[in-house]
Amino acid sequence: MASALETAFDPHALAGHVDSLTLPSGRKLMLRFAQPDDSDRLQRYFRSLSQASRHNRLMSGAPELPAPQLDRFVHSGEADAYTLIASMADDDSDDVIGEVRYGHFGPDVEFGLSVADRWRGQGIGSVMLANLECRAAALGGERLFGDTLRSNSAMISLARSSGYQFSPTPYDWKQVRLEKPVTYLPLDIPCTTWRLAAGARRSIGV
Ligand SMILES: CC(C)(COP(=O)(O)OP(=O)(O)OC[C@H]1O[C@@H](n2cnc3c(N)ncnc32)[C@H](O)[C@@H]1OP(=O)(O)O)[C@@H](O)C(=O)NCCC(=O)NCCS
Repeated sequence: MASALETAFDPHALAGHVDSLTLPSGRKLMLRFAQPDDSDRLQRYFRSLSQASRHNRLMSGAPELPAPQLDRFVHSGEADAYTLIASMADDDSDDVIGEVRYGHFGPDVEFGLSVADRWRGQGIGSVMLANLECRAAALGGERLFGDTLRSNSAMISLARSSGYQFSPTPYDWKQVRLEKPVTYLPLDIPCTTWRLAAGARRSIGV
C-alpha cells in the first residue's frame, strides 16, 4: 500500500494513511492520523478512561482533554506533531481504543500514549510503540523519549519490555524519562510503508 508520506509531508494528505498492526491474538489494530472530524470521538475516548488512567496520561486531574490540547491533537502534522488513533479492524463502531501523540524536535521524538482500560494487557501498547519507532526513523528521528510518573508501573513495564532506558526527568522528581535510540537505517525500517516513506524522503532530499 502506498503511503501519503511517500510523496510529501503535507499534513492535508495524511488522512488516507492507515497502518494495520497484528496483535499477539492475531486480531488487527488500525492506526491512523487524527483529523478535525475526530474531535468528538477522541474526546469521548478520553472521558471514558478511568480517572487513574487519565491522570497517568495527562498528568493532571482533568476530566477530559482540555480544549486547546484537543484542538492540537486533531490537527495532525501541525508543528511536526502527530496524533494516532487506534481502533480494531473488526469493530464496526470505529470506537477509539488507544491513541499516541508524538512530536519531532530535530532528531528527538517525544511521545505519550494510552490504551482504553478494557483493552489493556493485549499487546496494544507494545505494537503501537514498535510502530512509532518506524514512524520516527522514517522522518529522521534518532531518539524516542517520553516522561511518565514514577508510580506508573504499567508504562514503566511497557517501556522496559520495549527496550527503553530510564533516567530522571529534568526538574521533576515525580517523573521518570524513558528513552530509546532509533537505530534503523532507512532501508531496514521494519514497517513497509514507513520504509518506503523514508526512501522517498531521502530521494527528494527532505
Ligand atoms: C501503559 C499502557 C499504555 C500499556 O498499554 P497495554 O496495551 O496494556 O500494554 P501491553 O499489553 O502492550 O503490555 C506491555 C508490557 O507492559 C506490561 N504491563 C502492562 N500493563 C501492566 C500493569 N498494569 N502492570 C504491570 N505491567 C504491565 C505487560 O506485562 C507487558 O509486558 P511483557 O511484554 O513483558 O509481557 C496502558 O496501561 C495505559 O494506557 N495506561 C494509562 C495511560 C498511561 O499511563 N500512559 C503513559 C503515559 S506516557
